[in-house]
Amino acid sequence: FHTSAPISPVLQHGIKRVGVIGSGQMGLGIAMVAANVARLPVVIMDVNKEQIDKGIKFMDKLLEKDVGKSKITSEHAQGTKDLVSTTQTLKDLRDVDIVIEAASENLAIKTALFADLDKECKPDAILATNTSSISITKIAAATSRAHQVIGMHFMNPVPVMKLVEIIPGLATTDNIVQTTKELATSMGKTTTVVQDVPGFVANRLLMPYINEAVILLENSWASAEDIDTTMKLGMNMPMGPLTLADFIGLDTCLAIMKVIHENTGDTKYRPSVLLQNWVQETDSDIYNSDVSDKTP
Ligand code: CAA
Repeated sequence: FHTSAPISPVLQHGIKRVGVIGSGQMGLGIAMVAANVARLPVVIMDVNKEQIDKGIKFMDKLLEKDVGKSKITSEHAQGTKDLVSTTQTLKDLRDVDIVIEAASENLAIKTALFADLDKECKPDAILATNTSSISITKIAAATSRAHQVIGMHFMNPVPVMKLVEIIPGLATTDNIVQTTKELATSMGKTTTVVQDVPGFVANRLLMPYINEAVILLENSWASAEDIDTTMKLGMNMPMGPLTLADFIGLDTCLAIMKVIHENTGDTKYRPSVLLQNWVQETDSDIYNSDVSDKTP
């Protein structure tokens, strides 16, 4: 990147329109905050129409709850709904200034998607990924615009958690980092800038903690309830580690641990057998829970 090169409209004027890939709990949360807090038009793309409908229903429920608690007016809630549109095709992302991808935590899926986004999106659009652990540099290599690819790692539940980890890849320019930070700030978030290492900072710290809780249970050294109570009442964690693992999604936890373990070779990230077995058996669905329920 040369400072003498003309600054692109996206960098000059900031982000005016956002695209989000995936309407699961992360994608939906990101889209909601972009519309509800940053007041930006958002297009959510997901191939699964049923999932989109579920996501929009969940967002409406959250907005209604906020209106009920007088946190926002009904006009504001309606404004948010009007700012959010949905699509099942990538072509509808051609006008956005940034795409935030929140698809499955799988390298092959993400690289294929980024290669397609590179073709469909306007040349100066930023391509961001909400990956929890996969290398930004690897994802960027699937595009012809590695300098405009960046990690934007939100925490679950997105409307509640204040942090966004910003992860520049090897080629990402400072201007792109700055623009992405400004977007996160306009969404009401606090940012950290983290090197492109497996698991970044959040999951380097969180996953060994969750894994150790599962290992304690696996060995019958304490009951699930007592493990969670220890961390809730002993350390003031809002949720115990086992409830948190379920909340994040056991499959997501396993995928993150595998990426960190495979890329560092460090056995402290080796996922427990019990976690692997659970993933074979379970399929949690956050949208079937009540928003006011303490254990979604
Ligand atoms: N989506 C949106 N909002 C939600 C929500 C959801 N899924 N679940 C709860 N909330 C909201 C509630 O509506 C409520 O909002 P109001 O105060 O405006 O009414 C607020 O959160 C508090 O909810 P509750 O009173 O029902 O329950 P709580 O006080 O137990 O809080 C919690 C719920 C916010 C989830 C809390 O238990 C918590 O903070 N847990 C820890 C979450 C955490 O650690 N997240 C990070 C996970 S790691 C990650 O995401 C990164 C990764 O890569 C894996």
